[in-house]
Amino acid sequence: MNVLVVGGAGYIGSHMVKMLLGERQHVITLDNLSGGYRDAVLGGEFVEGSLADRGLLHSLFALRRIDAVMHFASFIQVGESMREPALYYQNNLANSLNLLDAMRSHGCNRLIFSSTAAIFGEPDYVPIDEAHPQLPINPYGVSKWMVERILRDYDSAYGLKSVCLRYFNACGADPEGLLGERHVPETHLIPLVLQAASGRVDAIRIFGDDYPTPDGTCVRDYVHVEDLCSAHWLALNALQKSSRSAAFNLGNGQGYSVRQVIDTAHEVTGRPIEVIVEPRRSGDPARLVADARHAVDRLNWKPQHADLQTIIEHAWQWEQKMVRIAASPA
Ligand code: UFG
Repeated sequence: MNVLVVGGAGYIGSHMVKMLLGERQHVITLDNLSGGYRDAVLGGEFVEGSLADRGLLHSLFALRRIDAVMHFASFIQVGESMREPALYYQNNLANSLNLLDAMRSHGCNRLIFSSTAAIFGEPDYVPIDEAHPQLPINPYGVSKWMVERILRDYDSAYGLKSVCLRYFNACGADPEGLLGERHVPETHLIPLVLQAASGRVDAIRIFGDDYPTPDGTCVRDYVHVEDLCSAHWLALNALQKSSRSAAFNLGNGQGYSVRQVIDTAHEVTGRPIEVIVEPRRSGDPARLVADARHAVDRLNWKPQHADLQTIIEHAWQWEQKMVRIAASPA
């Protein structure tokens, strides 16, 4: 298959490109390098450009037969989306429409779309299954929810088939140590805890320890980036076979608190980790845990790195590489 990976130079997209190459697919990566890295794209064709560039999109589809698209390119910071919603509606919504229009014009009708647990908003119950009400509470979640909604209409009207994959907390790194998380600024818990362990930041700040959870800190469902990629690959194959649109929640069904993450990181790294407790961050639900039985049953998804220890070992391997790069002469 010829697979277009939009955002293939970013964190999850780059792991996906690696997996597709391993599956001997022809990969075309489109990325504007606003948050991604050229050296994270380990093979295939690379096109530098943006989904805002409709002309580029049309020529991309006109010059190749593209069998399917995986769309990872989006802004992902909840807090930023509250301050700058226009960025999120432009990049995550309007640019996605450009992509869908180009696909339609060129008869490409298979899409795997990166969605998020943020479409559910404050949970009514956990674990969260696909039947849970969708009431996003920030522009990031709304932008993803809107694309999911639009995809349903594009299926009915235009026959564009899609699978929406709602990630819970994506984390971990390539087990071979070639790829990992390189967000600037980094806002996610696991990389920040490991930066505190390596000394790249002074401490990890816990955003609130007065939540109604066993140790008072927020509980999340951490899912390894390679397991997310295997779900994409299975989803693409299922879409090829059935031509039926679908949506799946992706997590391990197991919640870990912020303090459990810090304790596990301490065990894995053997390093002291300075902890500072701060007030709650606005918009953080106490518990987010996925019910991913639908993906297990329908896609035959079998996460390989479900335990937190392994996730943190892989992320630590990557963090140590980042430290070595930062220390080496330019
Ligand atoms: N946290 C800290 N200190 C930090 C960073 C995070 O205590 O320095 C806490 C957060 O308050 C939260 C947990 O660690 O309780 C995880 O936070 P992350 O920022 O790593 O991840 P989120 O759960 O906020 O966000 C993730 C994805 C989003 C997605 C959301 C779904 O990164 O893209 O899940 O709700 F929208």
